[in-house]
Amino acid sequence: MIWHGSIMRAIFYIFLASIFMTSSSFSAQNPAPLVVILLGPPGAGKGTQAAILRDQFHLPHISTGDLLRDQLRRGTELGVRAKDFMDKGHLVPDHLILDMLFERVKSTDCALGYILDGVPRTIPQAEALQTRFQGKVELVVINLDLSDREIIERLTKRVSCEKCGTPYHLLYSPPKTTGICDKCQGKLIQRVDDTETVIVKRLRVYHKQTSPLIAYYTKLGLLHSVRCDQPKEKVFAQVVAHLPKR
Ligand code: AP5
Repeated sequence: MIWHGSIMRAIFYIFLASIFMTSSSFSAQNPAPLVVILLGPPGAGKGTQAAILRDQFHLPHISTGDLLRDQLRRGTELGVRAKDFMDKGHLVPDHLILDMLFERVKSTDCALGYILDGVPRTIPQAEALQTRFQGKVELVVINLDLSDREIIERLTKRVSCEKCGTPYHLLYSPPKTTGICDKCQGKLIQRVDDTETVIVKRLRVYHKQTSPLIAYYTKLGLLHSVRCDQPKEKVFAQVVAHLPKR
């Protein structure tokens, strides 16, 4: 009887160990989705870095600016409501942004993670994201840092593809053929909010409403800053250095 009890106990422990080994190797092979937030003033290079990250890490690039511009092109109710805010360089109300974003990240292509460009932009947006992420994702926040003077120089000379959104700079990274996107042959256009007057307004809004996020994420121990007054390849190398090795 004693002999029989020991065998049963041994089988039970082997069973427990096998469950533990299966679940730990499962979580090692299936780490939590990686979410990268690219913070930074308008024109710091969020879209540029996000596009390189997307291509190298095979994670979707989600830009709330691009999502809004797409709504605008399609003439949706959200697009019509957002247009006036965007053209004037103001922020679109938080609830519109969050509904649109949460709808987008439900897609299956976001299951392994995604790159957020231009969101969050206010403390309430960041808090809503924290509530959603809590313990479910591995979050890395990269702050792309650039002076206001450089930003004005970059944005007044930016053109981007009407079709795929790829940004170019007429001096630093011009397209091979004037007015045509290298990647998809789409037409290159200048954004309505890239005039000097609107850029200055966007910067004012950034300093008032978005820059407090630097302190917010620093307090959470999640923030890494990268200086962006250097070539985009160098900026990218520093961004990658802050990402987990997987
Ligand atoms: P959005 O489209 O997000 O614009 P933004 O934040 O103002 O940023 P940009 O897209 O202008 O700049 P970027 O940092 O991506 O720089 P890029 O890589 O293009 O938002 C537009 C509007 O939508 C907002 O104003 C607001 O109304 C609304 N909105 C969006 N999200 C919202 C939210 N969450 N809440 C509320 N409202 C929201 O680079 C800029 C230029 O520099 C390019 O020409 C590029 O080629 C060049 N460049 C990039 N890197 C380098 C480098 N290292 N060296 C030299 N040149 C470089």
